[in-house]
Amino acid sequence: MLKDLVLKNRSYRGYDESRRITREEMLELVDLARLVPSAANRLPLRYHISSEKSEVDAVQALTMWAGALAHLNLPYEGHRPTGFVTICHDTTCGQNLMDVGIAAQTLLLAAAEKGFGGCMIGSFKKKELSELLGFEENIVPSLVIALGVPDEEIHLVEAEGKETTYYRDENDVHYVPKRKLEDILV
Ligand SMILES: Cc1cc2nc3c(=O)[nH]c(=O)nc-3n(C[C@H](O)[C@H](O)[C@H](O)COP(=O)(O)O)c2cc1C
Repeated sequence: MLKDLVLKNRSYRGYDESRRITREEMLELVDLARLVPSAANRLPLRYHISSEKSEVDAVQALTMWAGALAHLNLPYEGHRPTGFVTICHDTTCGQNLMDVGIAAQTLLLAAAEKGFGGCMIGSFKKKELSELLGFEENIVPSLVIALGVPDEEIHLVEAEGKETTYYRDENDVHYVPKRKLEDILV
């Protein structure tokens, strides 16, 4: 059910590195993401798949994780993502961040359905990543999606008042507040 997938599809920052997601598995996810809506059907999105460990490690080094828990330096060594999909704009076709969000969420829901999990990473070193992946000038990375087999526990909790910052307990269980239905209707 879609509701189960939406609940399962959390932002994971810990992975089981013993089961690496393959290039073919990520290709399947991209093959689905290419079918989603796009403003005026301009289809500006392009995708780069990183599956080789050396490239995955290099992309990892350019990404910033869990700013609210910066002291933890997530993801921990030995629990890093095993693949990345970088969503780019081909600027000759335009740029639309809503297109990026729709594609990213679709890709992650498909990953969750297959037993994988991921995390959208908007904080990354853009220029360095473009250089690393050898992008032409018109290919601009907009969002990095980390992927792998999740190996951490995450719970959704009800947000109280204005506080929505995620947090962890002493066992490293991750909690994500979500606003109540009555608090989001205007
Ligand atoms: C557009 C976007 C960019 C994000 N960028 C980052 C990021 O750079 N680093 C990170 O650790 N998490 C990032 N996240 C994950 C959010 O922190 C996460 O969605 C939020 O804490 C709620 O957790 P949940 O996805 O499990 O509901 C991003 C999420 C979105 C939607």
